[in-house]
Amino acid sequence: KNVAHKQMYEAHEFAANFYNHLLLNTVEGEKAYEYLEQRGFTRENIEKYNIGWALDDWEALSSLLQRQGFDMNDMEQAGLVIHRENGTGYFDRFRGRVMFPLYDDHGTIVGFSGRVLEKSEKEAKYLNSPETPIFEKGHLLYNFHRARLNARKTGNVIIFEGFMDTLSADRNGIENSVAVMGTALSDTQLIKLKRITNDIVICCDGDNAGWEAAKRFSGLVMDKGFSLKIAILPGKMDPDDYITQHGIEAFREKILDHPHTYMSFIMSYAKRSKNLSHENDVLQFIHEVMEELANTLTPVEKDMM
Ligand code: UTP
Ligand code: MN
Ligand code: MN
Ligand code: MN
Ligand code: MN
Repeated sequence: KNVAHKQMYEAHEFAANFYNHLLLNTVEGEKAYEYLEQRGFTRENIEKYNIGWALDDWEALSSLLQRQGFDMNDMEQAGLVIHRENGTGYFDRFRGRVMFPLYDDHGTIVGFSGRVLEKSEKEAKYLNSPETPIFEKGHLLYNFHRARLNARKTGNVIIFEGFMDTLSADRNGIENSVAVMGTALSDTQLIKLKRITNDIVICCDGDNAGWEAAKRFSGLVMDKGFSLKIAILPGKMDPDDYITQHGIEAFREKILDHPHTYMSFIMSYAKRSKNLSHENDVLQFIHEVMEELANTLTPVEKDMM
């Protein structure tokens, strides 16, 4: 690895510990700590995942990185700071956000996702590190470095839409899950998963975006020849909402243990936009489902249809 990359890894480790310290040990971090507590994180959880708080300040991290002797041009390439347009110096990319480190396959921190404490129209809920020499968003599977060991034991891996769902499952003992970073599922990610298991459970949010994501993900997973189950949350809930409201046992029993097969998922998906008491809709439904399943149905299943 070249010298600049090594500095980028070190700076991320340094930044994560700085953010974590601010969250756990300072008055400025109290609101964020309470926020996480109210979402179900304990102090041990916060330490384990090295969650932090980026001060609502323009230079908290950049001035510190500078004093530590990091090359600030490298720090900008690493996505941690941004060069000032007019004048000299750098400012912090992440300000006033709860900071979640993103780990690569070796467990090294390569980026961050920062969440605002309160949703607003002004700012995106999550701000992610940009693409950098050490972070490719479409290649990273959140929690893969830990899930891969557990997936070998459980025999399957769960894919969530949001890394908050992975954290919620993980801290409640379901440790074989990964999440995409708001992207499509890439070939690279599926090849990584193929090396550890052939069984995938896709578990998406119950809202429209979740159904669409499940549809896209499942097609790609089937194309790669995995054995696939699809669990969708009821209403507009996501896995984290469900675990928080009903507990991890209910999540296991009612959601994970009752997934759709690919065929039943495709049928439910097609039904969503139709009224099957109308003959036209029925014909469209059959057409759509047969087309989707043409390549995956066995002859017996085709007869059933
Ligand atoms: P969700 O909106 O479902 O996130 O987006 P969530 O996990 O439920 O978050 P909470 O519970 O409100 O905190 C799913 C994923 O889409 C990406 C993130 O990777 C998130 O985990 N996303 C979402 C962004 O990158 N930016 C956003 O502003 C929102
Ligand atoms: Mn720490
Ligand atoms: Mn969602
Ligand atoms: Mn969600
Ligand atoms: Mn959520």
